[in-house]
Amino acid sequence: MERIYVLDTTLRDGEQVPGAKLTGAEKLEIARQLAVLGVDVIEAGFPASSPGDFEAVRTISREIRGAGVTALARAVQSDIDAVWEAVRDAEQPQIHIVLGVSDIHLQGKFRRSREDILAMGVEAVRYAKKFTPYVQYSTEDAGRADLGYLTQTVTAVIEAGATVVNIPDTTGYCDPREFGRIILTIKNEVPNIDQAILSVHCHNDLGMATANTLAAIKNGARRIEATINGLGERAGNTALEEVVMALKVKADFYGAMTHIHTEEIARTSRLVSSLTGIWVQPNKAIVGSNAFAHSSGIHQDGVLKNRQTYEIIDPHSVGITESRIVLTARSGRHALRARLRDLGREVDDARLEQFHQQFLELADRKKEVYDEDLLSLLAEQERTHEERAYELLALKVSLGTNSIPRAVVTLRFPDRREETAEAQGSGPVDAAYSAIDQLVGKQARLLEFSLQSVTEGIDAQARVSVRIEIDNDVFIGRGIDSDIVLSGVKAYLDAWNRAAFRESNPTLVRA
Ligand code: KIV
Ligand code: ZN
Repeated sequence: MERIYVLDTTLRDGEQVPGAKLTGAEKLEIARQLAVLGVDVIEAGFPASSPGDFEAVRTISREIRGAGVTALARAVQSDIDAVWEAVRDAEQPQIHIVLGVSDIHLQGKFRRSREDILAMGVEAVRYAKKFTPYVQYSTEDAGRADLGYLTQTVTAVIEAGATVVNIPDTTGYCDPREFGRIILTIKNEVPNIDQAILSVHCHNDLGMATANTLAAIKNGARRIEATINGLGERAGNTALEEVVMALKVKADFYGAMTHIHTEEIARTSRLVSSLTGIWVQPNKAIVGSNAFAHSSGIHQDGVLKNRQTYEIIDPHSVGITESRIVLTARSGRHALRARLRDLGREVDDARLEQFHQQFLELADRKKEVYDEDLLSLLAEQERTHEERAYELLALKVSLGTNSIPRAVVTLRFPDRREETAEAQGSGPVDAAYSAIDQLVGKQARLLEFSLQSVTEGIDAQARVSVRIEIDNDVFIGRGIDSDIVLSGVKAYLDAWNRAAFRESNPTLVRA
């Protein structure tokens, strides 16, 4: 079996999803889980992009053991310096340099010749090698590049000391046969390819990221870059869980395997989804809520007789268990901590105390508390740990068949000032959103509002996710409550808080 190394870029490419900006604490929590999942390298961010990102990468480098940590740099010394300062305390610090290789990028972005860009890349690798032996070079937009120039570039950067050469299909343009051929050509025609690890990074614009990554493995790639739940720019990146499970389920066909602890996949997916606020589509392979649900009578009958009739993956192997432990208001701190531990979440005494109170409030309203409820509640508590600009103190709504819906909202501001506003709208949520806009002193444009129930039953918690636009920037917010209106208001305020967080941690450049 060939070993396939896995670089997870959820915290860098994944975080480039509009509105999915994570706080430092959220990034660290995801990094911890990625280490438990067993990824080989965590790409923790793009340090030159903002002081906040720099700090997050540095904290992750200092805290995480058991996985290498890398971060992105453009091929300029100041970016490489920033990466090195941020990753230097990692167990295995790495530097990731990216520079365009397609003529479209060279002419459109840089307006420089192929020779100039090649020299710039080589110089950047030599510079990065002064800091660490582990230097990765990514040939951005390789999927649309001239193959001769691509092989020339790969040869030159390996010669300069790159230990990983990454071939990105940046725009998700390739077909699996095409992409496989690119990898095979590099494998066969780059004379020093055995001195570096050949890696791939695919985007999903045509829905072929997983197929392209697998085709690359078939043709000699030995490392993949991927994200949890397939998050990433535009249509996203290769979903880590899909490639890992394809290699596992079809081990005979691929003859390759990763060191990922697949039983941690579901937990990691849930954590990323709850912290980024980007829900996983129900029919998403491996981690969607329907991925192991059989609905048609014929299928159910088949599965009851023998699971394998309609199931190619044992749900336990990705961490989905059928057993549901239900907690109630009588469950004490001990039971709560034990359940959280089973779900992979450690909380210290102070947090447990606070969490127990919130749990009791929920258990009073909702007799049975399921794992999904606990995880959602925990995600909400984690976010409220971060500094919040606006805190909801009170909400009152009135509506009826023959009256205009109205809402009265009271917020607390960072300077502890409390203010109330009243507004009317097409419904109670709309009215409350207008009241919040009045209080904040700015108007947001609601781009998306989605409502899901966390568990079954009339007392289920409602989970709302919103996307709002403020000053041309998009922010995601999430809220959860057994009251639909309140969960909608919490989500809206969460998005406003993220906007305030961004204002105090501006992004200087984007990858
Ligand atoms: O898509 C891309 O080309 C990238 C590089 C930085 C690897 O994200
Ligand atoms: Zn990318």
